[in-house]
Amino acid sequence: MRIVLLGPPGVGKGTQAARLCARFELLHLSTGDMLRAEVAAQTPLGVAAKTKMDAGELVPDDVILGMIENKLKESGGCLFDGFPRTIAQAKALDNSGAKPDWIVELDLDDDSIVERMSGRLVHQQSGRVYHTKFAPPQTPGKDDITGEDLMRRDDDKEETVRSRLAVYREQTLPLSDYYAKGKAGYMRVNGGGEMDEVTAQIVKGLQGES
Ligand code: AP5
Repeated sequence: MRIVLLGPPGVGKGTQAARLCARFELLHLSTGDMLRAEVAAQTPLGVAAKTKMDAGELVPDDVILGMIENKLKESGGCLFDGFPRTIAQAKALDNSGAKPDWIVELDLDDDSIVERMSGRLVHQQSGRVYHTKFAPPQTPGKDDITGEDLMRRDDDKEETVRSRLAVYREQTLPLSDYYAKGKAGYMRVNGGGEMDEVTAQIVKGLQGES
């Protein structure tokens, strides 16, 4: 099974991706995580991408497609998180042989998104995500598994989040129509429920029970 998780920044794609990948034994392919690894390693790609990411803009399609190309060849069952984000990326995915079977689109209002981002904490090495109020770590500021420090993302400042939302509406939202008219299964889920409720709704849909 190949799934694309669509939705605005902070809606809970990474949170749901971890749960769905564990449940259905899927490879988690997050272009955001891949980019952050490049930034941390200070590669030329990472240095160029960081400027765009900090400004809340998209990294150019050719950079993203170059970065993910090899992963598309490897992938059997996988879940794409944060990819595709433009029509050009969606067409490239369709033409790669890794065409998705399911599109799951999560939805949430802007103010709730800003609240989620303002409390988000991440474990940089693993990509594990927490929230000070909604998913607090066992020890404040520390990763549950390794005990290492948690961080705030540079692009989670409210001003940057609002820019990311505008970019999402302009460049990524057209994918809803693109996929709704396509042949893959398409499901829209309210991302505003509790984490377990959102997971249950997606799982039900994927199992054809909705
Ligand atoms: P990326 O890392 O992909 O960011 P994003 O899509 O903006 O999404 P986020 O990771 O911010 O949020 P999320 O939806 O995963 O939410 P999460 O689960 O963490 O991309 C970052 C940047 O990289 C982009 O801006 C762009 O510059 C670049 N980029 C990446 N891919 C690209 C591409 N394909 N093309 C071009 N550029 C690209 O949840 C958020 C918080 O809410 C957490 O604290 C979580 O604990 C909490 N939470 C989650 N679910 C719930 C719930 N149900 N109830 C309460 N709290 C919840």
